[in-house]
Amino acid sequence: MIIARTKEELNRYLKLVRTAKKTIGFVPTMGALHKGHLSLIKCSNAENNFTLVSIFVNPAQFNNPDDLNKYPRNETVDLDLLTSESCDIVFIPEVDEMYPEEDKRIFDFNGIDEVMEGKFRKGHFNGVAQIVSKLFEIVRPNKAYFGRKDFQQVAIINYLNKNYLPELGIDIVSCNIIREDDGLAMSSRNQLLSVSERQSAALISQTLKKYARNFSEYSVEELRNKITDEINLDKNLEVEYIDIVDDENLQTVSEIISGKTTICAAVYDGTVRLIDNIAIS
Ligand code: PAJ
Repeated sequence: MIIARTKEELNRYLKLVRTAKKTIGFVPTMGALHKGHLSLIKCSNAENNFTLVSIFVNPAQFNNPDDLNKYPRNETVDLDLLTSESCDIVFIPEVDEMYPEEDKRIFDFNGIDEVMEGKFRKGHFNGVAQIVSKLFEIVRPNKAYFGRKDFQQVAIINYLNKNYLPELGIDIVSCNIIREDDGLAMSSRNQLLSVSERQSAALISQTLKKYARNFSEYSVEELRNKITDEINLDKNLEVEYIDIVDDENLQTVSEIISGKTTICAAVYDGTVRLIDNIAIS
């Protein structure tokens, strides 16, 4: 596996790949890799000649400096995992390499950035768009892979790709959520949970799953309240939001239509903020 730390190094390798007419699959990450990330790499390997993973903890998408500081970083372990997953190139730039000067671009997402994560993490998606657009322009992959664990992020990336970067011709592929045995969605942040918080965390997905199954018994408002109350019963957990949204425009629905509606959650488990979602089918 090739390790590139600068754009110049990366470009040198990518030139060879492009000359050889190999297709490139791209998996952007912030490292602290787990089976969720590895599933994206598996998808990319299955669909492309060549897989490139980036590891970059992007300061622009953290609205809370504390959250940025405590974000887990395990480069040595990550490199071992990438090697065993047959990643071809890993790009690990420093902050100055990606932001030689301040990025002042403001993206307009037609409202899909104003709900849920966008409402509670001001500027988060603008920061995601800044880094993903830079990475897309450097890597120019055929396909790029994102997890539905970050349901709203997938919508933002699709919008960005279609409206701001159409000339790159990238196909965005969204992949299933990978979960622990007790249902907890895998996340780099799970490493930050204490033993008791880790036990509580399972209740989030279990509650979402239970009410997604029984959705027809309740109104949207009742469903939201039931899920919130049930999660908040746990002493470690505090719901930030539960939202039941339309898969296309991400706005709160007045009526649930199976196959077109998703329940999304952000929950504090102690001081760790976890997100999850479940599609109503
Ligand atoms: P990060 O949180 O490292 O996630 C990288 C990719 O892995 C994202 O597409 C995310 O949705 C996916 N992923 C994380 N946990 C997953 C799980 N349990 N199952 C399936 N996929 C999962 O998302 C980011 O980084 C950043 O915002 C990034 C896109 C890299 C821009 O900085």
